[in-house]
Amino acid sequence: MKKLKEKTEDLQIGKIRRHIFLCSDQTKPKCCDKQTGIDAWEYLKKRLDELKLTGKGGVFRTKANCLRLCVMGPIAVIYPEGTWYHSCTKENLEQVIDEHLLNGRIVEDLLIDTGKIQSASIEIEWK
Ligand code: FES
Repeated sequence: MKKLKEKTEDLQIGKIRRHIFLCSDQTKPKCCDKQTGIDAWEYLKKRLDELKLTGKGGVFRTKANCLRLCVMGPIAVIYPEGTWYHSCTKENLEQVIDEHLLNGRIVEDLLIDTGKIQSASIEIEWK
């Protein structure tokens, strides 16, 4: 438990303001070719560190194996807004970082859809 507490403090888990998931290095690359996804992920990591957005900066990043849309990738989704973006190549990610992650503005050119996840409980009907 001590190790876990240290890790959560190290990653500033309690201070996350935005979380970006990026489809990259997929087992079955469908939304983009494998190298395009890897390049995008490496660029995202580098830029978030350069801009000091990770840790106390409040931006958390996660590499996803597939975000299930599987076309026009790399696909990304940012929470808490629930904003989905297509074509998140390293060239386009700069705009997403600058406009959305830093300033909270949606990048209309790359937007797929947006919608917050509702926090209500889900009722399941068992058969
Ligand atoms: S392979 Fe990228 S969304 Fe499915």
